[in-house]
Amino acid sequence: MMMFLVIILILVLSALLFQAWVSPKAMDAIPGSLGWPLFGETFSFISDFSSPAGIYSFINKRQQRYGKVFKSYALGRFTVFVTGKEAAKILLTGKDGMVSLNLFYTGKQVLGPTSLLQQTGEAHKRLRRLIAEPLSVDGLKKYFQFINTLAIDTLNQWQERTILVLEEASTFTLKVIGNMIMSLEPTSDEQEKFRSNFKVISSSFSSLPLKIPGTAFYRGIKARDRMYAMLDTIISDRRNGKSFQKDFLESLIKKHSKEGSEADHYDDDKLTDKQLKDNILTLLVAGHDTTTAALTWLIKFLEENPTVLERLREEHIEIQSNRESGSSLTWQEVNNMPYTNKVINETLRKATILPWFSRKAAQDFEIDGYKIKKGWSLNLDVVSIHHDPVVFPNPQKFDPSRFDEPIRPFSFLGFGSGQRMCPGINLAKLEISIFIHHLVCKYKWRPLEKDDSVQPTLVRMPKNKYPVIVELL
Ligand code: HEM
Ligand SMILES: *[C@@H]1O[C@H](CO)[C@@H](O)[C@H](O)[C@H]1NC(C)=O
Repeated sequence: MMMFLVIILILVLSALLFQAWVSPKAMDAIPGSLGWPLFGETFSFISDFSSPAGIYSFINKRQQRYGKVFKSYALGRFTVFVTGKEAAKILLTGKDGMVSLNLFYTGKQVLGPTSLLQQTGEAHKRLRRLIAEPLSVDGLKKYFQFINTLAIDTLNQWQERTILVLEEASTFTLKVIGNMIMSLEPTSDEQEKFRSNFKVISSSFSSLPLKIPGTAFYRGIKARDRMYAMLDTIISDRRNGKSFQKDFLESLIKKHSKEGSEADHYDDDKLTDKQLKDNILTLLVAGHDTTTAALTWLIKFLEENPTVLERLREEHIEIQSNRESGSSLTWQEVNNMPYTNKVINETLRKATILPWFSRKAAQDFEIDGYKIKKGWSLNLDVVSIHHDPVVFPNPQKFDPSRFDEPIRPFSFLGFGSGQRMCPGINLAKLEISIFIHHLVCKYKWRPLEKDDSVQPTLVRMPKNKYPVIVELL
């Protein structure tokens, strides 16, 4: 076993070493340091990633030294960091094939080759059309009651208690997506299995790429296999007519079998089982931590900004008082919450939940006068874009009125932009709006400690999970 480990380590190290040796000559023209041979800037990358301010300090220090475009070598990868509206436009709307998402090896292995995140060009477009349909505003209507009831039930447990907002938000969003995708009941055994497998999968993304028993990566792959086995059972039950549900899985299975009736359908519009499973997992991975983080930051920012909370509460109390007593939130009401929408956008701006977007150049092109070569990894620094004082004066301030007027294109990227803009935007907004409605109408809360540190994960979240004590209004 020990021997085996050593051999693997040597293999990995020599692969890294080899990459360091072939450091692209063309990168000489890009400012920045590639750090130590072999390790590059991996150590400062990891130490800044784990610092209270998170990875942003790594980017910020280098931008001050080298300017908006700089190179680095970390985690076995040469990367050019870029920022600004122009760079965002090039990277996010680049013509087909110019840039593709750039997952790390672990992510690629766990999500599988047919994941939306690994497709480009026409194949990506087609897959997205299939997946986005049930996530459209109309498609989401049938889940409204479930989400509403779950939000009320969840919040009923909060009264006069100390809770970790992040944990609560995580449970809530996972129950929503589990029910939407495969009709899991919030308190079933299946739900528990689903939850524990998902947690293991999640934590395997940022692990070392060693596929040997005992590692987080290995456990992640195993949990993924268990999750797929669970999906296989559900899918075959559905196919055999043993059960029928009006959920996401059902609508995707239908795409599969009932084709040819509509004129504009290609054969490729059918999803194989593998595609179905890879993409359900993709939705889970892309949608869970992000929505959890957004809800948590929003609740934190509200407490820190009482005038915003006051104004938001007015919007919701008004909605509540306009309906008959005893009746609950309606679909119409949740789609007419203008101030809430601004609060959500401002939360995503200030927190910048995905601090950078990762791309791989599929051909040569230029950014800010620098020549980018095919095959290079690029990271778009979104934090700087969200803190540009020209677009967002006094950028540290939490101020939803910034969104009174439409924001210039590529200046606000909370949900991304272009071909890969978040397909889950309507679902995320729906979950957050419903939850916030019941929260601000009924409760007040105060934090148990002051701490602004972030977790060392790609999705930025409060490190202390935001512990609060909750009381009735
Ligand atoms: C507040 C919550 C959310 C935020 C802040 C968010 C943010 C983002 C951003 C910024 C991107 C673009 C990344 C890039 O260009 O590299 C993205 C893509 C994506 N999001 Fe979301 N997201 C959220 C919720 C969701 C939900 C609920 C789902 C699904 C149920 C979801 C599914 C996806 C998928 C599948 C992609 C990849 C799209 C593609 O590559 O074509 N997201 N999200
Ligand atoms: C919030 O951001 C989204 C996505 O960029 C945008 O479509 C929407 O118009 C914004 N809403 C408000 C109220 O600014």
